[in-house]
Amino acid sequence: MSDTFKALVLDEEDGKTVNSFKQLQLNDLPDGEVVVAVSHSSLNYKDGLAITGTGKIIRKFPFVPGIDLVGEVETSQTDHYKAGDKVLLTGWGVGERHWGGFSQKARLKAKWLTPLPKDLSPTRAMAIGTAGFTAMLSVMALEDHGVKKDGGPVLVTGANGGVGSVAVSLLAALGYEVTASTGRVEEEGFLKDLGAKHILPRSELSRKSKPLEKETWNGAVDTVGGEPLATLLSQLRYGTAVAACGLAAGVPLPTTVFPFILRNVALQGIDSVMCPPQRREIAWRRIAEILPMDKLDSLTTIIPFDDLPKAASSILAGSIRGRTVIDLNS
Ligand SMILES: NC(=O)c1ccc[n+]([C@@H]2O[C@H](COP(=O)([O-])OP(=O)(O)OC[C@H]3O[C@@H](n4cnc5c(N)ncnc54)[C@H](OP(=O)(O)O)[C@@H]3O)[C@@H](O)[C@H]2O)c1
Repeated sequence: MSDTFKALVLDEEDGKTVNSFKQLQLNDLPDGEVVVAVSHSSLNYKDGLAITGTGKIIRKFPFVPGIDLVGEVETSQTDHYKAGDKVLLTGWGVGERHWGGFSQKARLKAKWLTPLPKDLSPTRAMAIGTAGFTAMLSVMALEDHGVKKDGGPVLVTGANGGVGSVAVSLLAALGYEVTASTGRVEEEGFLKDLGAKHILPRSELSRKSKPLEKETWNGAVDTVGGEPLATLLSQLRYGTAVAACGLAAGVPLPTTVFPFILRNVALQGIDSVMCPPQRREIAWRRIAEILPMDKLDSLTTIIPFDDLPKAASSILAGSIRGRTVIDLNS
């Protein structure tokens, strides 16, 4: 066991967030009950915001970001875990308020950890990560609202992104007719391989919309917010629902009450961070059951730890396709 380990550390200099790789020691890590030797992490939009200092989501420096991690328990002060157990973590404010997964070691609360499902490799668990977990919660929300497989096309926005691409795969695997909305129509082949039936250019939704437009969608998973969410709300069929989880297209929502009071549609918010443990377990179990692993592999890019800062800028530029897994030991 080496004394030092590598971590991506954020510091604040002249009001700006700067990142650098540092060698840390166990004493540097915050309090917690379980020390995990982290093998892989993943890159999410929120990590891009944290690493680049965009949106000021990190308030205390120095800080180790990374909202997802997977690895092996090294030491545990609780009976729930013992050395050698394989565990994963998404959310709970880790990588936002508590030091996270962009570090070869992390000290964490036991209640934040989930045992790694036996049939899931660490790489695939991180390929799913917060994005895939959020996609599953979004699909479950549509099911809860009674969105039926044979009721017509279901829309996924930001379809080439991490949440979007997994949502396309999950919905297609469940038998829904999926329309993938994207700003990168040149990726049509990739999206169709994931199971999308139709491709909708982003520009069809990124515009001012009328309060009510033609009833088109049997449901939607929206990963972008802003004008596209307002437009798709005006196009939802009577009695259907949208699961809204993202903000890549903007935070303001320029909609009206009409879709709600005249078409009985539902706008269901999705939060993966504080999702209760029971729903978490159901979601992870269902992902492992439903998500075709060859599709997951096809949307996954594995990068070495040193490439992370560059990838963080790319995810904010909207140029990352699918999911990016970080191998912390390469
Ligand atoms: N609520 C939660 O718990 C939760 C959890 C995870 C993520 N999120 C949020 O979900 C969103 C997606 O996360 P992610 O990790 O999938 O990020 P991502 O991989 O960067 O995907 C975002 C996608 O949005 C599209 N996009 C980017 N800029 C856009 C713009 N200006 N207008 C319209 N579409 C745009 C792009 O897809 P195309 O190229 O296909 O158009 C992009 O790939 C983020 O806003 C993130 O904060 C929320």
